[in-house]
Amino acid sequence: MTCSEIDLKVLPLHKHSQYLEACVDMINEEWPRSKTARMKSLTASCDNLPTSLILINNKMNLLGHAKLTRLPNIPNSCFVETVVITKHMRGKKLGTFLMRKVECYCKNVLHLKMLHLSTKGQEEFYSKLGYEICPPVSTYGNPVSIVVKPDKAEKMNQETCGNIPPPPPLPKLQSVASTNIKSSKTFMFKYL
Ligand SMILES: CC(C)(COP(=O)(O)OP(=O)(O)OC[C@H]1O[C@@H](n2cnc3c(N)ncnc32)[C@H](O)[C@@H]1OP(=O)(O)O)[C@@H](O)C(=O)NCCC(=O)NCCS
Repeated sequence: MTCSEIDLKVLPLHKHSQYLEACVDMINEEWPRSKTARMKSLTASCDNLPTSLILINNKMNLLGHAKLTRLPNIPNSCFVETVVITKHMRGKKLGTFLMRKVECYCKNVLHLKMLHLSTKGQEEFYSKLGYEICPPVSTYGNPVSIVVKPDKAEKMNQETCGNIPPPPPLPKLQSVASTNIKSSKTFMFKYL
């Protein structure tokens, strides 16, 4: 099966909620997670970030998804995550088409100047689209300076999350380069 570009559309998921279930299944096939949690994350999609964009063809088949989230420390950029093309349609340039449309959406609808992302294994795909390696960025609005192993993090949560209210947010960082986040992922960015 091949798709000519005129048969393809990239649409905001929250305006086409009939694709929600299929989107949950497609993403969970790649990154298994509870259906409820995935649905909750996808139904948060809105015009004003986070925004889930979906790729469909003229037969109304769901082919791909990408989610845009806010980068509180870099207001003229956003973070692209959960980029996925349905398994049997990979290697046909649909990922390229989806990312190009995501970039147009960010530039023309959200009026952003940059896009950031992180990946582990798809560096070549993004590099072919013009993305370059950059220092890690935080999607939370504060720097992260320690790497906590998952089992230790769970223990810390149990020990500290009881009835204690969360601490106030940390001050904003000045620039991408000033972050000190440590990560095993490759962070990449592109000027739009
Ligand atoms: C990554 C993904 C979105 C790419 O979509 P796709 O439609 O298969 O990619 P395309 O056909 O548009 O590929 C474009 C180019 O990137 C290359 N490419 C794609 N994936 C690659 C990979 N994993 N490693 C190296 N090169 C890759 C292709 O060979 C192609 O190169 P060419 O232009 O020289 O022919 C898709 O494979 C996918 O959904 N993967 C699983 C989920 C995932 O890992 N998402 C990324 C999260 S960061």
